[in-house]
Amino acid sequence: MENAIAIFCSAEQPVPQVELAAFVQRNDSEFTPPFAQRDWFVSYEEWVSRLLRNGVVIYARDSFSGAIAGAVGFYADSQRYKDAYVSYISVSRQYRKRGIAGKLMSAMAARCAAQGMQGINGSCAAGNQPMQRQFESNGYLKITDPQQVVVLKQANKKDDWDKNFYYLKLS
Ligand SMILES: CC(C)(COP(=O)(O)OP(=O)(O)OC[C@H]1O[C@@H](n2cnc3c(N)ncnc32)[C@H](O)[C@@H]1OP(=O)(O)O)[C@@H](O)C(=O)NCCC(=O)NCCS
Repeated sequence: MENAIAIFCSAEQPVPQVELAAFVQRNDSEFTPPFAQRDWFVSYEEWVSRLLRNGVVIYARDSFSGAIAGAVGFYADSQRYKDAYVSYISVSRQYRKRGIAGKLMSAMAARCAAQGMQGINGSCAAGNQPMQRQFESNGYLKITDPQQVVVLKQANKKDDWDKNFYYLKLS
């Protein structure tokens, strides 16, 4: 029997920083490139503490074992920006293909809409087909206008590998 999965939001049910950092570390080798190899990387704890301080994390727990099965991290500040920004999403390998990422993406969109965001920006490595399908099946449009892509690439020079950009319109 498949274990039940419960979804929580850090704004209401704070996630222990150490536990989330351990989850990010466990899954890091699946990212291209892994966080630990990026110029800005200090430590998993430092990155998670910044995400939890300035952003929101919606996370999935295995109701049986209590383990974190997946998480999405995003920034949604309607006072300063019209659009939210997905910074992180990962589901541990043993929990994949059960719709967990889809649930995390839906919960993120509902929260961003409730917070008055107009849309959500996201990106992934050009070779990351599972994530591209995830964006597309959740209603995100691929940004194909070359001028817009150049602007988006310049906005985040520290991540300068080949990426695809996506946008979900909320309102
Ligand atoms: C991308 C990622 C988050 C997707 O997580 P996931 O929980 O497996 O995603 P879902 O289960 O919602 O969807 C995955 C697939 O399973 C299918 N699926 C969903 N529920 C299912 C079920 N009950 N039975 C069978 N298949 C199912 C979905 O339709 C989808 O199919 P598709 O890939 O052919 O479109 C995961 O692969 C991952 O963590 N990758 C490594 C980290 C990463 O690349 N993150 C993004 C960096 S930008």
